[in-house]
This record gives sequence, structure tokens and C-alpha cells, in this order.
Amino acid sequence: MKTMLVAPSILSADFGNLSQEIKDICQTSCDMIHIDVMDGKFVPNMTIGSVVVEAIAKVATKPLDIHLMVENNDFFVDMFKVFKPHSISFHIESEKHPHRLIQKLKTLNIKPAIALNPHSSIEDIRYLIKDLDMVLLMSVNPGFGGQKFIPSVLEKSIELKKLINKINPNCKIQVDGGVNDKNIQLLKDAKVDIVVAGSYIFKSKSPKKMVENLKI
Ligand code: DX5
Ligand code: ZN
Repeated sequence: MKTMLVAPSILSADFGNLSQEIKDICQTSCDMIHIDVMDGKFVPNMTIGSVVVEAIAKVATKPLDIHLMVENNDFFVDMFKVFKPHSISFHIESEKHPHRLIQKLKTLNIKPAIALNPHSSIEDIRYLIKDLDMVLLMSVNPGFGGQKFIPSVLEKSIELKKLINKINPNCKIQVDGGVNDKNIQLLKDAKVDIVVAGSYIFKSKSPKKMVENLKI
């Protein structure tokens, strides 16, 4: 059964033609639009703020999945809440009060998710899983599209799934970074529910076909 959900990361889209890129990707069988927000502090890159997210929200017909790679999560949640995203992920490595931020997202009717860098342990979020809609496991170091997939995420996902089954079976596992048609079956076998893919989809002549390749 095809169960894998696909979230194209617009980081690899043509920003000079962003509106059309968003309209086109929404015509594919993708499930949500992944928006990478970087502040130049938590990660060595800067991307987009409210002006661009507003432009995306205007034309997108799929749910928005915002991935914060920032130091001040609270500030960015307040900035983006008006666009009514489906979900917001924040990094456990950047948040002093993750439990409080999860509650805030719930109050705003935004699905809360926590992202883990490749080095971070799933133990760091054991007592938060109960309140989460999703855990995002990074399979590259955050900051850039087009990097190589780090395979240790597969073992991590299998371990995480065991924990999720015990604590909160509704919580989904998302993997982000270096996803393509070579590793998609491995990801499915590792119990991943949602994959994020940027360069694999947007650097192709047929993003629609690439999305379909990942829907297994
Ligand atoms: C990296 C971002 C990813 C990135 C994925 O920090 O979180 O979402 O855009 O791009 P690819 O699929 O090219 O690795
Ligand atoms: Zn991302």
C-alpha cells in the first residue's frame, strides 16, 4: 500500500519564479509544502521571512509545513501564525522551553513538531512525544539543500517508531535531507511516514514525476 507522504522543500525551487513554482508543485500529488526558514545564526544560511511566506500562502493549495532552523523560535512562530500553517517544526537544539512552545503551537491550532539534528538522540524528546504531531529527523546537517543523505537516520527512525508506538502512535516521523529514489524504499522500511525532498524534485525537468517516484 502506498502510504508515504511527500513534502517538497521549496528551498530548491526557482525563487525568481516562486509563485509559478508553488502553483505547479501544488498540481502534483504532493501532500504538503515544506518551507525552510533559516536565520543565519542557528545555521550558516539565511532564507525567508514573512514577506515570502505570505506570497507562498496566497497561491498554495496544499498545507504549509514550516521548518524553523532559528535561534528564536518564539519570534518566528509569532511572525508566521497569521498564515495559518498546518505544522511548525522547531529544533530541540535551539529551544530552552520546548514543552512551553508545543503548548503555544497547539493553542494557535498549528500542529507541533520537533526536529532533531543528525547527532541528537531521540532520548532528548522522550517526554515530549506525547504532545507532538510529528518528529522531523534530519538526514543532513541543516542549512542547505542538495547535501548527501546520512544513513544513520534509518536506525534512528526505527528506534523512534518503537518509542512512538508506546507513547503516542499518532505521532508521525518525517525525514528531511538527501531524499531521492535510491533511498526511498529504505526510508519506508525504516517506518518513515513523510519525506521532505528539495533538489531531487525541483532540480528535475519533471517535478511531478519525482513526487510520484517518492510516493511508495
Ligand atoms: C536543509 C533543509 C531541507 C532541504 C532539503 O536544511 O531542511 O529541507 O531543503 O533539500 P534536499 O532534499 O536537496 O536535501
Ligand atoms: Zn527542511
